[in-house]
Amino acid sequence: MSTAILPTYKNLTLERRGPITLLSVNRPDVLNALNRETLGEIEDCTRRFREDDEQGALIVTGAGEKSFISGADINELAVLDPRGAEEISRFGQRVLDVLEQAPKLVIAAINGYAFGGGCELALACHMRLASDNAVFGLPEVSLGIIPGYGGTQRLPRLVGPGRALELILTGRRIKADEAERIGLVNRVVPREQLLEETVKLAQAILKNGPLAVAAVLESVTRGAGLTLPDALRFESGLFGILAASHDMHEGLKAFLEKRPAQFEGR
Ligand code: COA
Repeated sequence: MSTAILPTYKNLTLERRGPITLLSVNRPDVLNALNRETLGEIEDCTRRFREDDEQGALIVTGAGEKSFISGADINELAVLDPRGAEEISRFGQRVLDVLEQAPKLVIAAINGYAFGGGCELALACHMRLASDNAVFGLPEVSLGIIPGYGGTQRLPRLVGPGRALELILTGRRIKADEAERIGLVNRVVPREQLLEETVKLAQAILKNGPLAVAAVLESVTRGAGLTLPDALRFESGLFGILAASHDMHEGLKAFLEKRPAQFEGR
């Protein structure tokens, strides 16, 4: 299903660059904080992206110069009862799962503050590029809560439990260079080049066979939740499935014939 006309949202702005969708969270009054409505819109937008055969990569960023996403909307958190708190945590986790489990590329372009739910959303993306003014933090403990959109699970898996615990238990903010050093982001680029560099990264990946790209994403994201023997078995299964594809035969043949491969996604 291709959607030539972009859907419109109250709290998101969308742009297309060929097969790449740029999603900007756009709530300037609260530095792009995620309220329930915005989470719902991100889920809807991501599901549409996943279903659109002509779209290969989704880049998530924040509107404006200062903030990627300032966190969950504290106005909404302040009125939660226990049931509502668990429910919003489950909802946020589900939305971020839709991003992480996309069979197509999802990259965060972090252009400023990435706190709380904003940092957690970035963690759910397949890769993260940051501008040199980006600042990260999971300050929830300072508010008497814990990260509830996957932060206590994804951060230790990415940077190791010791570093993750230090960041989560202190709520300390870190700048882009430290985030890069500990592996929280893939790399840091000058602010004015962030979007172009992220688009270039997506384009470089999209030159490869789309079935292979999808298989890598599935193998890495699903494999992370399996034991190593099960994950290796899963990898072999995907390797076998790809051998039935036109693209695998085309890719190998093109190499032997010393020409660029013409992938068709089948
Ligand atoms: N939820 C709701 N509103 C938020 C918000 C959030 N997560 N983050 C910022 N805002 C609002 C502020 O209340 C302020 O509103 P106001 O203009 O009505 O006073 C507006 O956005 C601008 O923020 P301000 O604090 O004035 O900007 P700043 O540049 O001085 O500081 C931050 C920016 C991000 C450092 C600071 O706003 C902050 O610490 N925000 C909370 C971050 C957080 O704890 N996130 C995790 C939530 S679980």
